[in-house]
Amino acid sequence: MKTRQFDIITIFPEMFESPFGESILKRAQDQELLNISLHDLRKYTLDKHRKTDDYPFGGGVGLIMNVDPIVRAIEAVKESKPGARSILLSPGGKSFNQKMAWELSREESLIFVCGRYEGVDERVLNFVDDAISIGDYVMAGGEIPTMVLIESISRLIPNVVGDESSLVEESFEYNRLEYPQYTKPREFRGLKVPDILLSGHHKKIQDWQLKEALKKTAEIRPDLLSKEAKQAD
Ligand SMILES: C[S@@+](CC[C@H](N)C(=O)[O-])C[C@H]1O[C@@H](n2cnc3c(N)ncnc32)[C@H](O)[C@@H]1O
Repeated sequence: MKTRQFDIITIFPEMFESPFGESILKRAQDQELLNISLHDLRKYTLDKHRKTDDYPFGGGVGLIMNVDPIVRAIEAVKESKPGARSILLSPGGKSFNQKMAWELSREESLIFVCGRYEGVDERVLNFVDDAISIGDYVMAGGEIPTMVLIESISRLIPNVVGDESSLVEESFEYNRLEYPQYTKPREFRGLKVPDILLSGHHKKIQDWQLKEALKKTAEIRPDLLSKEAKQAD
């Protein structure tokens, strides 16, 4: 299996050190299942102040990131990885979900472009394959959204998670939330683990888990169930 490659273009490369230096992502890099390269956008500026942003044409508040250093950075990465799929992190992008995480986990090479300030010059969209949003809220930059994507994509890459059967049982895999889970102690401050889970009756436990998953989804995320119904049509 080829090592997956993630290239990140950012003005804050240091932000990634700790999240990528722990737990699953660290192990996956140590085992050469994936390789993460950070690219400081300022290295792709041509002026002596290494400016990456400017005032918006037409007026308005804040600064917009310039198109040219971003495109130079993407093209520099693509020199050694011509087939890489490039993603701009943007609140105006497609909403990220588990289905997209699976799709991206099959790509050999991904480039992530992190915006800052008031966002990036719209023309950047002509030079990336996708624009992706992590949800309907505004973050200060694309760095944390990139971490969100990389963590969710990486755990779907073969051999990154120890027991891969755990991946198919999770929330969103069947357009529903996961069933409630419990561990020791059997009772905590009067709250008991449901008897059925202690029964040892495998089939009854599975039926209970499905029923509870559907109940929880109907209560908290009914939109997922209507998605399921639409897909079945
Ligand atoms: C403060 S935001 C810019 C918001 C922009 N003015 C707007 O209203 O759409 C700066 C950068 O953070 C990142 N960002 C913010 N929210 C995001 C989200 N929900 N998903 C992905 N990236 C986001 C993007 O890279 C964006 O260019």
